[in-house]
Amino acid sequence: MSRRTMIHLAGGSLAATLAGPGLAGPGLAARRKLRPDFLWGAATAGHQVEGGNVNSDSWVMEHLQPNAFAAPSGDACDSYHRWREDMALVKQMGLNCYRFGIEWSRIEPAPGEFSIAALDHYRRMVDGCAELGIKPFITYSHFTVPRWFAAKGGWEETANIDHFLRFCERAAKALGTNYSHGLTFNEPNLAAQLSWQPGFRATMPYFAQGNAAAAKAVGSDRFSSTPVFDAARAAPIQAEAHRRAIEAIKAVRPDLQLGLSLAVADEQAGPDPSGLQRKIAHVYTPWFEAVAKDDFVGVQTYGRAVVGKEMDLPPPQGVELTQADTEFYPQALEATVRWVAKATGRPVIVSENGVATTDDSRRVAFIDGSLAGLGRAIKDGVDVRGYIHWSLLDNFEWNRAYTAQFGLVAVDRTTFRRTMKPSGLHLGRYARANSL
Ligand code: BGC
Repeated sequence: MSRRTMIHLAGGSLAATLAGPGLAGPGLAARRKLRPDFLWGAATAGHQVEGGNVNSDSWVMEHLQPNAFAAPSGDACDSYHRWREDMALVKQMGLNCYRFGIEWSRIEPAPGEFSIAALDHYRRMVDGCAELGIKPFITYSHFTVPRWFAAKGGWEETANIDHFLRFCERAAKALGTNYSHGLTFNEPNLAAQLSWQPGFRATMPYFAQGNAAAAKAVGSDRFSSTPVFDAARAAPIQAEAHRRAIEAIKAVRPDLQLGLSLAVADEQAGPDPSGLQRKIAHVYTPWFEAVAKDDFVGVQTYGRAVVGKEMDLPPPQGVELTQADTEFYPQALEATVRWVAKATGRPVIVSENGVATTDDSRRVAFIDGSLAGLGRAIKDGVDVRGYIHWSLLDNFEWNRAYTAQFGLVAVDRTTFRRTMKPSGLHLGRYARANSL
């Protein structure tokens, strides 16, 4: 999409809302009204938008030579300073929820040393969001950890759980009561899921070398960077950390709705179905068990995986690919939501769903396709309590850095100027109607 077709924040956005295309599918009258407290949101994560997150494990990895990142995170979207502007965009779209992360490495830059200024910052964000009438949805841990935590072995060491619990308790006390939903972890099953992707599997030894080089850089004998660590070792430790973090946070906020989010692809069997069963047992079953008593489960879906005997098969020839080299496949959300709701018995909140593309009209189509399926699942009685799109902003997309655009809002890389995309206003029309 060219800059000219974007709607600038500074002018014309309301006109665009009124003049924009209607919602796809049946007319409004034929749609099903959703529960009044249905969450319509957009998401970000601290490290991907804040900028200058120098104390995190990722920052260390981004600055090794060589490294696996297209560019370092740098200033990201400067949201650490521009968060009010970002929340105003959420409001402008007509959404009622903003999911964002608190950065452990800012809050606890050294073990046991808590930054009151950083805690105050996040408290201001929570309160500022609530003042706008938008529900803050807090991620306690979105992949990144403090560099000192990584240097102690991160999620590969049971003894490290206590560090996380201390952080959760401290943060829960500081954040106050102006938010109702939280996630302990974002996609703790991602490392296992990635290990089924042929491309990623090939890069694993390279990441392992990166962790070894990072250890040397921080003067430790090890460095366990999320999510490129020993997943088999980390998974039970993170599951235990999740269970105990819920207890720690609920001791402060018993009323909070708490869960974790899972990376969930629409998993489909290839010609040999035995791979699918093994993949599900490896990537999902332990986590479906881990969330069994949670208030909800967060489902994060970007597409489908066709699973071969040993690993996922490449996308079929000739299909439309996204900037993340995945198949454009909005049908996935209906399948994943139905599956996870059934497998866990938990209410579902779609805590991420989105597509990397420079063609914003494809994002609009992706939203329509995803929401049509979500509407069918809800009509059939699946307990879905929210839809949060990834992402609010074009941001730091991990190893792809700034080369993959998931945002409903574009961010100029030199001025940080935000520009609403038509897809942002399109999603907002669903939210304002609160029906599917
Ligand atoms: C993660 C985000 C990431 C997004 C798109 C999810 O796995 O939670 O941090 O940017 O996918 O790749």
